[in-house]
Amino acid sequence: MNASFDSKEFRQVLSNLPTGVVIVSGIDLAGQPQGVTIGSFVSISLDPPLVGFFQGLTSKTWPAIAASGSFCANVLAESQGELCWRFAKEADARFEGVQWAPAKSGAPKIAGALAHIDCTIESSSQVGDHLFIVGRVQTLEAGQSAESAMVFFRGAVAGTSPLT
Ligand SMILES: Cc1cc2nc3c(=O)[nH]c(=O)nc-3n(C[C@H](O)[C@H](O)[C@H](O)COP(=O)(O)O)c2cc1C
Repeated sequence: MNASFDSKEFRQVLSNLPTGVVIVSGIDLAGQPQGVTIGSFVSISLDPPLVGFFQGLTSKTWPAIAASGSFCANVLAESQGELCWRFAKEADARFEGVQWAPAKSGAPKIAGALAHIDCTIESSSQVGDHLFIVGRVQTLEAGQSAESAMVFFRGAVAGTSPLT
């Protein structure tokens, strides 16, 4: 770590950058749904259609999803704060009581999410203490919900109104 700042200051300053929130989901080799809350998800390329995110090297969940070769990014709505925290903190039974349907890859499409982006894993490369995961989009859909998207800002979740 650079001597001019510590990890607390790094997190505090970077928390001023608002991000959207997705749950990256997948099916593990035992056939069970898995998921993790991710704020670093981004659209990368249109042709070919690529998206990506950064996943911490210490994640227990990601290796189980990665083994399937696919994932689905579920774009959270403002009202899904409970899911946001559940998929970031509790290791067990994250999908208990969660309604979902399989995407084409089999990865869970979580009900109530504003959009579902189903991908095969194109590449995975280490950057610092994270993996940069690139996904090739296979299918995608957005609902007609008028609900606001979730925004993560200074450690809390809020919403943003769509343009009308
Ligand atoms: C709003 C929000 C955004 C997050 N974004 C990321 C991220 O982009 N990358 C990451 O590695 N962890 C991120 N996390 C933390 C992970 O969700 C958390 O470390 C993970 O769920 C731990 O469980 P696991 O070991 O089962 O992966 C985020 C957490 C929250 C609440």
